[in-house]
Amino acid sequence: MPTSISIISFYVVVLVVQVQHIYTKDLKSSCSTCRQITDNFNKGFDRTAKKNFGGGNTAWEERKLAKYEISEIRLVEIIEGLCDSSSFECNHMVEEHEDHFETWWFKSKSKHPDLLKWFCIETIKVCCPNGTFGPDCNDCVGGSERPCHGNGVCNGEGTRGGDGKCSCNHGYKGEFCLDCIDGYFNEQRNDTFSLCTVCPTSCKTCTGPTNKDCDDCKEGWEEDDEEACIDVDECAEDSSTCKEDQFCLNTQGSFSCNACDKVCSGCKGPGPDQCLACSEGFMEEEGICTDMDECDQPEAVCTEEHQDCLNTVGSYECQCADGFHDEGGTCIPTPTLEENQQPSEDQLVPDSQKPVEHEDL
Ligand SMILES: *[C@@H]1O[C@H](CO)[C@@H](O)[C@H](O)[C@H]1NC(C)=O
Ligand SMILES: *[C@@H]1O[C@H](CO)[C@@H](O)[C@H](O)[C@H]1NC(C)=O
Repeated sequence: MPTSISIISFYVVVLVVQVQHIYTKDLKSSCSTCRQITDNFNKGFDRTAKKNFGGGNTAWEERKLAKYEISEIRLVEIIEGLCDSSSFECNHMVEEHEDHFETWWFKSKSKHPDLLKWFCIETIKVCCPNGTFGPDCNDCVGGSERPCHGNGVCNGEGTRGGDGKCSCNHGYKGEFCLDCIDGYFNEQRNDTFSLCTVCPTSCKTCTGPTNKDCDDCKEGWEEDDEEACIDVDECAEDSSTCKEDQFCLNTQGSFSCNACDKVCSGCKGPGPDQCLACSEGFMEEEGICTDMDECDQPEAVCTEEHQDCLNTVGSYECQCADGFHDEGGTCIPTPTLEENQQPSEDQLVPDSQKPVEHEDL
């Protein structure tokens, strides 16, 4: 029995939570529907202002216009344009409260010209004034004048839903959005006002705008003698930071390893003039590593008979001279066309005439 009771109470809790959720969402969306309706009402009011008016200004026309301005005909025209035909929520709200529009139009308009306030907030009670929220339009956290002290958004503000709590803008935290998140500091602060500004790049946390105001240095920066956070030169610290064929480049708060020019064997920067030594096949010429011409040396590098030397960038090739070709590492004369072997008889027999082997017959 205790188990089934706890299962039932679990479902009751789930149901309550879900109903609350739908209810809260409905309260917010009813208000936005109502705002849309009053907004369209005001637009419709402007649109119909000059209707049925010829543009002349005879006394008769003036009288006719004055009559139209407050007429039921004009009200009906405005109401027809309040909702998209596809919006169920909007049409439902207008139908349900059509009487209120008539009352306002004929009786309350001059005393309460703000339709949003009269209709949405005070009459059908789906919205709240700015800076307030919830069923009774209570003040948002931080007060209705400047909800969240101007540094956040009040949940449910202007609607009959929400809980009035703040979601702080970036840089701010706390119930009242007066505190700064890590990496920001209070440039101005009193009980009702706070301005959080981002810390200098070198600080993890700080109390002011310069690198001397850091509480902690960010990774890649360190305190100097005057307790200011300055960049660590990772490249000076340890010469083995990068690989042998790379050079180290210091950056603010970090460093990078970059590939040396391929003519270098180790380097202190980019380009062929920053080599520590030249790669094999290159030699230094006026401070730059340049290709070595192996073929143009006192001692021949291609030693086999009938070989030519061909220089390449960083190396050389030994090729057989014209009229010779390589066979197993030696250059032998290439046979002329007439000396070519005739194809063997076997190769001349077409496939179809070859004996076919039959199996499993
Ligand atoms: C309420 O807030 C909206 C949007 O922030 C603004 O356009 C409107 O003027 C405010 N209304 C009043 C009465 O302050
Ligand atoms: C807080 O600071 C703001 C901005 O400097 C100022 O306008 C406001 O009057 C101050 N409030 C108090 C209570 O000191």
